[in-house]
Amino acid sequence: MSTEILLLIATLAIIFYIWQRRTYNFWERLGIKQIKPSPIFGNMRRFLTAKVSFYEQIKLLHNTPGFEKEPLIGVYLLHRPGVVLRDLELIKTVMIKKFNYFTNRALQTDPHHDPLGYNNLFFVRNPDWKDLRSKISPVFTSGKIKQMYPLMIEIGKNLENHLERLPVDSMIAIKNTCARFTTDLIATLAFGINANSLSDVNSEFFKNNMGIFEVSLSRGFDFMIIFMLPALATLTRVKAFSKNTSNFVRRSISYVLAEREKSGLVRKDLVDVLLAMKREAVAEPDNKANQLDYLVAQAAIFQSAGFETSSSTMTLTLFELSHNTEIQDRLRQEIKDYFGDEDHIDYERIQEMPYLTQVVNETLRKYPIAGYVERECIQPSSGERFTLAPYYNVELPSGTPVYVSTLAIHRDERYWPDPEKYDPERFAPENRNNLNMDAYMPFGIGPRNCIGMRLGLLQSKLGLVHLLRNHRVHRCEKTVKSIQFAPMSIVLISKDEIFLKLERV
Ligand code: HEM
Repeated sequence: MSTEILLLIATLAIIFYIWQRRTYNFWERLGIKQIKPSPIFGNMRRFLTAKVSFYEQIKLLHNTPGFEKEPLIGVYLLHRPGVVLRDLELIKTVMIKKFNYFTNRALQTDPHHDPLGYNNLFFVRNPDWKDLRSKISPVFTSGKIKQMYPLMIEIGKNLENHLERLPVDSMIAIKNTCARFTTDLIATLAFGINANSLSDVNSEFFKNNMGIFEVSLSRGFDFMIIFMLPALATLTRVKAFSKNTSNFVRRSISYVLAEREKSGLVRKDLVDVLLAMKREAVAEPDNKANQLDYLVAQAAIFQSAGFETSSSTMTLTLFELSHNTEIQDRLRQEIKDYFGDEDHIDYERIQEMPYLTQVVNETLRKYPIAGYVERECIQPSSGERFTLAPYYNVELPSGTPVYVSTLAIHRDERYWPDPEKYDPERFAPENRNNLNMDAYMPFGIGPRNCIGMRLGLLQSKLGLVHLLRNHRVHRCEKTVKSIQFAPMSIVLISKDEIFLKLERV
């Protein structure tokens, strides 16, 4: 190798070394305690080497030894400075009291080439978010859900029929069954489509829906950029949904919109909201709702956020119940009492089932399905700026991502004694005074929390009551002992398939 090349390499190495030292000193210079970063990876080595998922990496940062008393921690996502919030009061300040500085999520996809990702309610940035959220919220009022409840009961009965067709004492991959149930529910509630996932093993809709959360190396790369380096989203042309998923949702939604326009049917569901947005946009040439993809984007996020979260909640509850016979028997007794001689439980009655509520709350305590919550700080160009007072007299730089590890907080023994234990008694009325509900955030926190919370809880509960009414779930030789999270997934998913034996009772 010539001397010139060696000299060039040495110079580049020195420049890189100086740049990195300065970059990785950012929080220390502001007087904020930081976790020592590794070269290049920053504090994300385990995520970037595909050992753990993003939310588990945030949990590891939250739990770094030596930082137990810190209200917040300075971290580096590769070279990008970010903050992990630990203190519950500070979390409330950021997420609720000072929400106007934190209206956006930190993650971003490509604004130019990813219309389905960029424009949906989860990704969309303010001020568009505020407008969209207020347009879509009416779909989720309790009155609207109540109106839809008879459709939900039908799917509950389909679930029972599906289970009855299985051979006696079957060993089943329980997630698949739960996902069929929630896929059928979301399809009928949001779009008025009969997806037939429960009645037809080969349902096309179900196969496509499952593809949404499929993990692969290329999807892993897309999400690495979306989560950590959104500034490169346009350059790398990443997409929030795969090509197959995008085509599938475009196809189904164009069909549904066209059918609904033709029939004039009014169901007051998501499709009606989308059609109203489309009509309103006609007089405004710049309105994004003139583009089909803008409408499809909203459907895509409902379809994905709506089925996976609730089916995971059901699956993880059933897994825990298979290890806790007493809890399962007590719950089944309550279910039988509430069914009485009917073949369903009324909307008001299912909401008031106390033990079922305790059980689902405890599942979401031990397994907060999203794993973490995030926002981005935007400082105004004029007027009062956000500071980290009273903890630090420091302005948080505009563009800083902030993270809350709900998984770490939900398993912190200061708030939840014996946190690995699955114990619905934590939520019993007599223990209410011992609960610190600030340390409970399965649906996020503040004005940008989960819009589908009511529906998510209801569909998880409905699935459980129809599943457990006539069936007992048992561990079998293929059942894993404990849940290990899948390293490449974006929400809490077990690495191993969960098999359970289903006994008719
Ligand atoms: C057990 C079920 C569910 C859980 C645990 C869950 C959890 C979450 C969490 C943690 C967030 C982020 C909140 C934050 O940043 O503060 C979120 C946002 C969201 N969820 Fe859910 N979710 C569930 C069900 C649903 C359902 C059924 C739907 C729709 C059909 C839905 C649609 C959304 C949307 C659209 C957002 C973004 C809201 C916004 O940015 O304005 N979720 N969810």
